[in-house]
Amino acid sequence: MVHAYPWDLPLVNLYGDTDLTPMYYDVPFVPTPEVVVRRMLQLARVRPGEVLYDLGSGDGRIVIMAAKEFGAYAYGIEIRKDLYEQSMAKIRDLGLDGRARIINTNFFDADISDADVVTMYLLTSVNERLRPKLEKELRPGTRVVSHDFEVSGWRPVIVEEVYEEWRSHKIYLYKIPGKEIPIASGKGASVEDPFMRQVLSLVDGNNSIEDISIKLNVTPREVRNALKKLMEAGLVEEIKVIR
Ligand SMILES: C[S@@+](CC[C@H](N)C(=O)[O-])C[C@H]1O[C@@H](n2cnc3c(N)ncnc32)[C@H](O)[C@@H]1O
Repeated sequence: MVHAYPWDLPLVNLYGDTDLTPMYYDVPFVPTPEVVVRRMLQLARVRPGEVLYDLGSGDGRIVIMAAKEFGAYAYGIEIRKDLYEQSMAKIRDLGLDGRARIINTNFFDADISDADVVTMYLLTSVNERLRPKLEKELRPGTRVVSHDFEVSGWRPVIVEEVYEEWRSHKIYLYKIPGKEIPIASGKGASVEDPFMRQVLSLVDGNNSIEDISIKLNVTPREVRNALKKLMEAGLVEEIKVIR
């Protein structure tokens, strides 16, 4: 663990929930400072149209900045109803409803398989419990950014320290290993759309979706969307996932 916090303990219903149901949360609400949020999103290279999930979204600040400043489709998963309501109200006030949304559920139960980027400010112990879910659900190449707490057993691509007012923060950037390799069907047919044509020309059984996205300077999501259409047209047979 990087920092020892008094809140590194399971907390129980200290949050003023109105329905007095005993609730057990994995981590209390402690917000990530804005400068750290921005740096997390910069390090993850969040690009317009990409899908981001913040696991335990608190007041929604990561989701809001990802949508507002980075053009992402951003989802927060937040177990506390009060924080869910508060952050959804803010999203609506900012007119970001089309790009940002909070889901009021437990992140262990949420489907996050569509993510390009996952952000977390949890605890090393919670990251450890989340790890099997992340490894199972996330596609190769998905970026995972964790504020202050490592994912044990994963090797970070970048570790950066950010100084903010009264303390320093560590940011860990990880990338889910593996490759997705599209395989052409070998059927000849003309493709009208120039972008789809470019993508198809790079489908050679060696290039991964990430390689193609780098060559064409677009996001892997854009390549994946083009490949979906090429599969519908019978020109791409499958996308092999190598983990
Ligand atoms: C340390 S805060 C981080 C908030 C926000 N991501 C940020 O960085 O500013 C952790 C948040 O996770 C929420 N949380 C804890 N356990 C959760 C769970 N199992 N499912 C969903 N949210 C959870 C807490 O209510 C809290 O708002």
